[in-house]
Amino acid sequence: MSEMRCVIAGTGGFLPERVVTNNDLTEWVDTSDEWITERSGIRQRHMAADGEYTSDLAIGAGKAALESAGLTAEDLDFIIVATTTPDETLPSTACKVQAALGMHEGAAFDIQAACSGFIYGLSIADGFIRSGQAKNILLIGAETLTRIIDWEDRTTCVLFGDGAGAVVLQGRDDVGNRGVVASKLRSDGRQHDILYSDGGTSMTGTSGTIQMEGKDVFRHAVSNLSSVIGEVLAKTDLTQDDIDLLVPHQANKRIIDGVGKKLRMDAEQVMITIADHGNTSAASVPLALDRAVREGKVNEGDILLLEAMGAGLTWGAAVLRW
Ligand code: UT7
Repeated sequence: MSEMRCVIAGTGGFLPERVVTNNDLTEWVDTSDEWITERSGIRQRHMAADGEYTSDLAIGAGKAALESAGLTAEDLDFIIVATTTPDETLPSTACKVQAALGMHEGAAFDIQAACSGFIYGLSIADGFIRSGQAKNILLIGAETLTRIIDWEDRTTCVLFGDGAGAVVLQGRDDVGNRGVVASKLRSDGRQHDILYSDGGTSMTGTSGTIQMEGKDVFRHAVSNLSSVIGEVLAKTDLTQDDIDLLVPHQANKRIIDGVGKKLRMDAEQVMITIADHGNTSAASVPLALDRAVREGKVNEGDILLLEAMGAGLTWGAAVLRW
């Protein structure tokens, strides 16, 4: 027996049925397929139906992850939902997911770190597992971002989509050095004004809509992600040449390409799903990871690097040995 490790025992994803292509968008937004594809890499996004909420997407992804792990909700100690678009101000979306999945013990809570939510959640779950507070944790990133978009603002409304991704994290002391190797979380609240919503429960009693200075966020993304990758690798005995697969936040293909290039990674070593989903915030990393697993791109022993940056600003990275 070795030390307690936090391993990914299962993954899952869930996307609303309705697909909206760039060309569909041109019917109500002054934009073009060419502009959106060239500037962001996005070709389509999924949009939740009327009456379909963040919890519904989270439940779909959570069920798929539990199935792939071969576990039931009764095996879980915690459900953590990372979201910026909860169903309600209270209770947490995680408590709704807990009830729907039939988990009657343990605890459920939401975390809010915008697009970095899944990486934050992974670090929190790793801590719970290593400290012996939990054996099995369902971590979900779920968003209905199309509900907080200003459809009059073409600089933001073409970028975001709805979806959910999930992982089951399991404490194991019989897997050698597999599992989460290290994680690093960062934030800088001084950068509020470049990415925020112009409303909220306390300020306006409404959710507000996403406001973004795209160029500034882009600039911060490339530099913050590059530095946090260096910081997380420095906590391990690994170097960037050891990374087998980069699973990045899907905000802009040009950001992903920039980071991949800095890490000297080949195209097939970088998981890119943005064309199909757009930016799904906290859901984007687990959705990309789930697809990588289902496409057979991840093998036991592989070193994975997960990273994300979003409003806050928040950013972070995690290294896993599969
Ligand atoms: O997940 C959270 C983190 N988010 C991000 O990381 C997003 C980071 N930022 C970006 O991805 C990019 O900055 C954008 C995709 C948002 C924008 O790309 P850009 O190359 O920075 O374009 P821009 O904002 O400088 O706009 C260039 C031009 C402008 O026209 P002028 O002023 O040059 O005449 C815009 O008005 O493109 C125009 N434009 C559009 N044209 C057609 C802006 N939005 C659109 C649009 N369709 N949807």
